[in-house]
Amino acid sequence: MRIDVLTLFPGMFAGPFAEGMVRKATEAGLCELAVHDLRGWAAGPHRVADDEVFGGGPGMVLKPEPIVAACEALRARGAGRLVYLSPQGERLDQVLAGRLAREPGLLLLCGRYEGVDERALHILAPLEVSIGDYVLTGGELAAMVLVDAVVRLLAGVLAPGAAAADSFATGLLEGPQYTRPRAFRGLAVPEVLLSGDHARIAAWRRREALRRTWSRRPELLAFAPLSAEDRRLLPEIQAETAAPDPAPGRP
Ligand code: 6GU
Repeated sequence: MRIDVLTLFPGMFAGPFAEGMVRKATEAGLCELAVHDLRGWAAGPHRVADDEVFGGGPGMVLKPEPIVAACEALRARGAGRLVYLSPQGERLDQVLAGRLAREPGLLLLCGRYEGVDERALHILAPLEVSIGDYVLTGGELAAMVLVDAVVRLLAGVLAPGAAAADSFATGLLEGPQYTRPRAFRGLAVPEVLLSGDHARIAAWRRREALRRTWSRRPELLAFAPLSAEDRRLLPEIQAETAAPDPAPGRP
């Protein structure tokens, strides 16, 4: 997969793209990342890419000419599906990340300030994507989040089957995980995980995934594909585990 990023702050991407899975994926040739400075397409000696809001008001808007010129030039060089990172976009979730991972390429346009001139959006018709209901100062961090979520889903990046067990991929949260040592400050690893009995371990993990989903994100249970066995277990788990806080984490 090829991912192009168009931004006024190309330097922000150096760290996240140079570490971890994203680095591994680019080194293995599973994806190709290129960050482009929008200013390179801005006109005039000062290469100004933003301007005041028509009608008055605070903040600056990204000018349409450099954005359209940049997107057309990158498209001519083979850039993929245009995605505009904006808090007004479709919310990124695991399903959307999976859809984006199947594209041959993505061109991520990072907004700044009050946004992008509407005519550029009208002409370019991007897919608009938000990473959640809060306001960032620009789309760059959101683009990094999107790249991380998409790249780890590309074939060959993770161990086979690793993405399939992810929280959300199954529609459920994952249960608890343990590593060595077997006992730590008097706390033991659940015996079943040391049993070597793969069927028993799988059944235990499924039950703990159901329990954790019920206790933390009960609304996910309405959409998760549940087996007959899951449906038999749920009332048992609900009796064992305290009813969830209806608004977890909110002040
Ligand atoms: Cl994509 N951009 C900005 N500026 N803020 C956001 C966002 C994007 N997603 C959530 N908040």
